[in-house]
Amino acid sequence: MNNNHIKPFVVTIDGPAGSGKGTISKLVSQTLDFHYLDSGAIYRIIAFEAKTKNLITNQITQILELIDGLNIQFSDEKTFLYGKDITDLIRSELIGKFASEIAKNELIRGRILGLQKSFFKSPGLVADGRDMGTVVFPEAKVKIFLTASIEERVNRRYKQLILKENNVNLTDLFERIKFRDESDTNRKISPLKAAEDAFLIKTDNLSIKQSFEKVMEIIRSKENKIK
Ligand code: DC
Repeated sequence: MNNNHIKPFVVTIDGPAGSGKGTISKLVSQTLDFHYLDSGAIYRIIAFEAKTKNLITNQITQILELIDGLNIQFSDEKTFLYGKDITDLIRSELIGKFASEIAKNELIRGRILGLQKSFFKSPGLVADGRDMGTVVFPEAKVKIFLTASIEERVNRRYKQLILKENNVNLTDLFERIKFRDESDTNRKISPLKAAEDAFLIKTDNLSIKQSFEKVMEIIRSKENKIK
């Protein structure tokens, strides 16, 4: 799609783990030929590197230093840290839990704000996470909040993880995601929540294609130059 005639704008897609925001965001960014920011991946990379260095979640000074030295690259749907492909390594629920823990810290969130904002480039950006519409890109033209029941989200995450790990336990996964949801929703700084001007989409009974089409409909309604 040629979008050179459209002023750059941001689409934010927030929601809890397993809501489908990653898959839908990638599809939307590919369709519009926009840049894509997976903000959760940034928290996961920091968590991964902190764990590699044997740090624990409350060693904030050391984690901030580590952030300043990070050399991250996103390319062809892969994530590289210091040139090493860590795409699959950062996807475990263990890293997710660590990421959620450090994401409570205001200094850590502040330290990666500039990096997140640097993804906003012409012709536009699709940004997914927890606080994209509320804190990082409050001026976004289109804000979406994707949700689904915890059962549905756990099932989806199970299907993703089982492709990469042999020993995924469904009951464990349920508990971990429930814990992460609660911790992301109840934290004081930039909690997981829909922006007041966000469109809410419940994806329980929607296929990926149907969710994607709903999001595209909303984008078209806001930007009539997109067909
Ligand atoms: O989207 P994800 O599951 O990959 O994110 C992992 C964790 O990172 C999530 O549980 C909380 C944190 N996170 C956040 O606090 N803010 C964001 N914008 C994205 C992720």
